[in-house]
Amino acid sequence: MTQRTALVTGGTGGIGSAIVRYLARQGHRVASNYRDPDKAEAWRQAMAAEGIDVCLVAGDVTDPDACAAMVRAIEEKCGPVEILVNNAGITRDTTFHKMTYQQWTDVINTNLNACFNVTRAVIDGMRARKWGRIVQISSINGQKGQYGQANYAAAKAGMHGFTISLAQENAKFGITVNTVSPGYVATDMVMAVPEEVRAKIEAQIPLGRLGKPEEIAHAVAFLTGEETCWMTGANLAINGGQYMGW
Ligand code: CAA
Repeated sequence: MTQRTALVTGGTGGIGSAIVRYLARQGHRVASNYRDPDKAEAWRQAMAAEGIDVCLVAGDVTDPDACAAMVRAIEEKCGPVEILVNNAGITRDTTFHKMTYQQWTDVINTNLNACFNVTRAVIDGMRARKWGRIVQISSINGQKGQYGQANYAAAKAGMHGFTISLAQENAKFGITVNTVSPGYVATDMVMAVPEEVRAKIEAQIPLGRLGKPEEIAHAVAFLTGEETCWMTGANLAINGGQYMGW
């Protein structure tokens, strides 16, 4: 197996941690970023206790200059970023008629503009080296919309538009760009949905349960693998059958 350097943004979250773990166990050097140093240090120690050594660097994904500095710091410590997983994301759920401009921009900045900020900092290196894997972690709700998530659904749908444009521009440089659209996965983000609302959502999942973070990580590992070199601009929908559109 070729050992690569992978950057997973938002690695401390539920799906992010599973992706970090999976890629590290495949033998890659894995880096992630943080905004809150205390939370990040506790997480780094927990990963270390599992035998996973994460290269953790400060970096707010909503700030383009901070992202450029973060990528420079990672590259000095672990070598060029060859795999990028744009995973960092937040929700600020509320119906649109109540949504504030702040709730709108917070979500667009963290979920969508971050893809520009981080990818822009790694793309030249990938093009020069003629190899790269970029994966956006979008959402089922970017595909089908969701009551209370006009901001999130707009950002998540935008991420796939970003994927399919980048995929076209960078194919000739050996870079593949794909999206994974998880459904409702048992993470803190989903558990924060009011219980009665969550119960209704779970009832809509033909496979009968919430997803597991590892099930998303498995798809990311597939898309970032050496052998997955003729798949670009795709969207892998992993949602227990809740949304079967194509
Ligand atoms: N369809 C139709 N009506 C709905 C509805 C739906 N899906 N969801 C809520 N409603 C209705 C309620 O029944 C209620 O109706 P009444 O007023 O007639 O009683 C009304 O909407 C509530 O409206 P409010 O104006 O009070 O709504 P609110 O501004 O308080 O927002 C909410 C409520 C935030 C939308 C809340 O229902 C909620 O959290 N919903 C879940 C949203 C969700 O799925 N988020 C996903 C988070 S996880 C994630 O994002 C990860 C991922 O990628 C999957």
